[in-house]
Amino acid sequence: MPKWLKDAVFYEIYPQSFYDTNGDGIGDIEGIIQKLDYVKGLGCNAIWLNPIYDSPFMDAGYDVRNYKKVAERYGTNEDLIRLFNIAHQKGIKILLDLVPGHTSDTHPWFQQAKKAEKSDLSNRYIFTDSVWEAPPQYRLMCGICERDSNYLVNFFSSQPALNYGFYDITHPAWQLPCDHPDCLATVEALKDIMRFWLDQGADGFRVDMADSLVKNDEEKVATAKIWKGIRKMLDEDYPEAALVAEWSNPVRAINNAGFHMDFCLDHFKNPNNYLFRFTEDGENKGFFNKNGKGNIKDFTRTFLDGYEKTKGNGYISMFTCNHDTPRLTHYLDKEAIKLGDAVIFTLPGVPFLYYGDELGMKYIEGLVSKEGGFSRTGTRTPMQWNSGKNLGFSTSDNPYLPVDDSADAPTVENQQNDPDSIYKVVTDIIKLRHENEDLQADGDFEILYAEENKVPFVYKRGQFVIFVNPTLNDASVDFDIPVKEEVYKIKESKVESGKVTLGAQSFLMVKI
Ligand code: NOJ
Repeated sequence: MPKWLKDAVFYEIYPQSFYDTNGDGIGDIEGIIQKLDYVKGLGCNAIWLNPIYDSPFMDAGYDVRNYKKVAERYGTNEDLIRLFNIAHQKGIKILLDLVPGHTSDTHPWFQQAKKAEKSDLSNRYIFTDSVWEAPPQYRLMCGICERDSNYLVNFFSSQPALNYGFYDITHPAWQLPCDHPDCLATVEALKDIMRFWLDQGADGFRVDMADSLVKNDEEKVATAKIWKGIRKMLDEDYPEAALVAEWSNPVRAINNAGFHMDFCLDHFKNPNNYLFRFTEDGENKGFFNKNGKGNIKDFTRTFLDGYEKTKGNGYISMFTCNHDTPRLTHYLDKEAIKLGDAVIFTLPGVPFLYYGDELGMKYIEGLVSKEGGFSRTGTRTPMQWNSGKNLGFSTSDNPYLPVDDSADAPTVENQQNDPDSIYKVVTDIIKLRHENEDLQADGDFEILYAEENKVPFVYKRGQFVIFVNPTLNDASVDFDIPVKEEVYKIKESKVESGKVTLGAQSFLMVKI
C-alpha cells in the first residue's frame, strides 16, 4: 500500500478547462504547471488528471487513439514529464486516467482489427463471427467494417471494447475465454501502457470503468483476477504507485481486485445514496438539503458496509463531484455545500475535490454538448480564476466552453479572501486533516448518531467528534463525553453538559 495515501487529498483537473497558456482556448499542461502552487495552497497534495492522450475527442479523451502520446492540444510528452517532475518537487503526486476497457475507433489497433485480412490484432476487440450475428443483449455496431463482423462497444459508438474475453461463454463461435492467448495479449498491452507512464514518473492511475474488462462476468471474478495480476506488478515494480477504481463497489474493487481506492457515491451505480443527489423521481432528498427530508441512513448503510469490509485493505474515496456528475450547486445552496464539503473531507478514506468546487462554481444549465459531454457539459466549464477576460481562463475569443457569465460568478480572486466562502471551509478543513492523523485516511471512524430520517449526524474520528445539522431548525443530541475543545464550527452550536445543540445549517468539530 503506497504510504502517501494516508494523508492524500486529491484535486481532479479536467485539463481542457483548467488554464490555457497559449491562447488557443483550450487548457494545457503548461497551464497546470503554472497553477501547481494554487493546488498546493488548497492543501491538495495529489492530482487526478482526466485523459491527456491523443484522441479525436468524441468522449472528451476517453476515446484514446494513442495511449503513449499526449494530445497536441495539451502539449507534448516532454511537457507531461515536466509536470510530473515539478509536481514532485512541490510534494504533489499525479495520477493519470487509464482507459483500459475501450479505445477510440481511430486507434491503429482497431483500424487493423476491422480489416477483412487476419492479423495478430484480429482478436484485440470483440467481433462477432458474421455481420448477421447481433444478439440484442450486446451493444453491437453492425455493418460498419470490411470484415464480416459486428463489434461490441463499451460506451459511445466510437468506443469499441477491448477483448479481455468472456467469463460465461454464451456464443462460442465468437466469444473467447479469458485465458485465450489473444485476451492475455490485451492484458499485456495494458500493462505495457501502465509501465510506460510509471517509468516516466506518473504516480498511478484513476481507472475508467474498471469493472468493464471481462464480459458476461456477473460477479466480476475474472475482471478482478486481471486487476489482481496488475496489482502484483505494481507491488513488485512500482510499490508507491496508486490505483483508484471507478467501480463503486469497494468489496469487489479493493478486496477482490486489489485496488487501493474505490470511488463512493457514483450516482449511476448507487441510486440509493441520497447524500447530495435527487431521488429517481426528481425530489431533492439529499441529506444536506435544508428541506430536512434527507435520510442519513441511506448513506451510512452503504458507506459503513463498504468501509468495514475493506478496512485495512484500501480506501473509499468520497468526492465533491466529478466531470460526469452535476456540481453540488445544482442541488444545494452555499451553506449546505459547506456542510457537505466539511463532511467529505473529514470522513475516512481518500477524498477528491473537483476543480472549481472549492469556489462553488455553478453547474451551467442548457449548454450544447461539447465533445461527448451531453448533460455533463455544464460541469466541465472553464475554471474561474479572476475578473479578467474569460475569468482568467484564456485570452482566446473562443474558449473551449463558455465561461460562467453571471454577475456573481465565483472566482479564485473573489473567494480567496472572503471569510464566508466555500473556499475558506474547504481549505480550513483540509488543513485540519493534514494536521491531525485522526482525521486522515486511516484514522478511526465510528458513527455515534445516524438515525432514520433524523438529524443531526454525529461521528467520531479518533479524538474528534463531528456534528452536522443540515436543516433550518435547531437539532440537539445527548452527548455526555466531556469536550476538551471546540475545534471548528460553521454557524451556531452550543455544547452543554450532557447535550449538544446545533443551530440551522451548522457543523461542529470538537476534541474529546
Ligand atoms: C467514465 C468516465 O468518467 C466518463 O467521462 C466516460 O465518458 C466513460 N467512463 C467512458 O469512458
